[in-house]
Amino acid sequence: MNDTPRGAFKSNFGLMMAVAGSAVGLGNIWRFPFLAGQNGGAAFLLLYLGLVLLVGLPMILSEFVIGRASRRGAVGSFKLLSPGTRWYGIGYLAVITGFVILGFYSVVAGWTIRFLVEAASNNFVDGGITESFDGFVNSAWQPILYSLLFVGATAAIVAGGVEKGIEKYSKILMPMLLVTLVLLAINSVTLSGFSQGMEFLFKPDFSKITMNSVFDAIGQVFFTLSIGMGVMITYSSYVVKDENMVRSKGIVTVIDTSVAIVSGIAVFPAVFTYGLAPTQGPSLVFLALPNVFAQMPGGYFVGLLFFVLLLIAALTSAISITEMVVAYFMEEFKLSRIKAILATSGGVMILATVSALSQVEGSSIRIFGINFFDFLDMLSANYLLTIGGLLTVIFTGWVLDKKLLYNTFTSGGRYAVWLFKPFMFMIKFFCPFAIAMIILSKLGIF
Ligand code: PHE
Repeated sequence: MNDTPRGAFKSNFGLMMAVAGSAVGLGNIWRFPFLAGQNGGAAFLLLYLGLVLLVGLPMILSEFVIGRASRRGAVGSFKLLSPGTRWYGIGYLAVITGFVILGFYSVVAGWTIRFLVEAASNNFVDGGITESFDGFVNSAWQPILYSLLFVGATAAIVAGGVEKGIEKYSKILMPMLLVTLVLLAINSVTLSGFSQGMEFLFKPDFSKITMNSVFDAIGQVFFTLSIGMGVMITYSSYVVKDENMVRSKGIVTVIDTSVAIVSGIAVFPAVFTYGLAPTQGPSLVFLALPNVFAQMPGGYFVGLLFFVLLLIAALTSAISITEMVVAYFMEEFKLSRIKAILATSGGVMILATVSALSQVEGSSIRIFGINFFDFLDMLSANYLLTIGGLLTVIFTGWVLDKKLLYNTFTSGGRYAVWLFKPFMFMIKFFCPFAIAMIILSKLGIF
């Protein structure tokens, strides 16, 4: 195992928490509500749930098998498992995707730090949240500065190695985040927009489903579960002991999905109560929840706690992406950990600066008619992750040695044996077909 100085998770529980830390992040609390808002709410939720089960779960298991069987990172795993072929290209795609995601993720995480400061200064009480948010984003230098803080914090933790930092803290902080969210969701009942919000989230109107919603839903499944870009491969490569990984990954999937749903319950009643448009886009959660903190009893502390935990959720996710890229630089270029981190964070900061600038009102930093920030978000979730995921399942289902696959999946016939056949069917036939169809339809080819 110790052929690379990358470290290892001590226990399956620790790995599970790190995997959950990677999965649970801004994707659940920030991205899910705004996408659901733009895609008609309940219909989107159903699509998303269906795709989590049918595509997300088989995908996350595929990545676990690749990482576990090779004990290498995103590129090295494919090189080792299929020598002499070009499947390692999936790893290069993953590294590019890592930069693209961090390029906008760090900006949103920067917002979180800024809102934390606002919450601490009790600034939510006065209302005017929309104006102050706009002022913040339009100042340009502020979002850049806050992103820099976030990227720096991520780099510092990754520099310390994975097991002592991430594993230890994820175990405590992730459950706390969920409890705070549940508290907010319960508080939703007191809001005047409660029933409207619930209806929006849970009463499906299938006429709202378009090709775009399917596309957004599959992108969100990949994004929220951290799949399609080698992060799960990298994390799974750090497992030392043979344990029932199928069960752990299943549990993580359930946790991740629950966080998204609870976030929806916390956010949508507030959206309707305070007259925000569900179609608002990326600022949705940041505008909806501070209003709730301003009026709820004890809102000062809840708001503070919420942004602290959201920041941590963002950190544990960004760490997983950074770790994947850093592991690649270390393995393939024999860079030291510190040099690899500097290269990664430097690249991320360039992208984050451009995406923060592109959000300033009237900015001309646009690609295909959308601002650079939205472009990075769409490019990563809707194209890079889905294509990376498609190639990964094809690799697992059709290229990887069947015996190795079986032995890794079941830990040599010990666990989840009954699930192996259905799993094979999903990754050989269903997933490649479904993902390919969705991409091709979106591109207008099918
Ligand atoms: N899953 C994380 C989230 O929901 C984001 C992420 C995407 C992390 C891809 C790793 C890889 O916030």
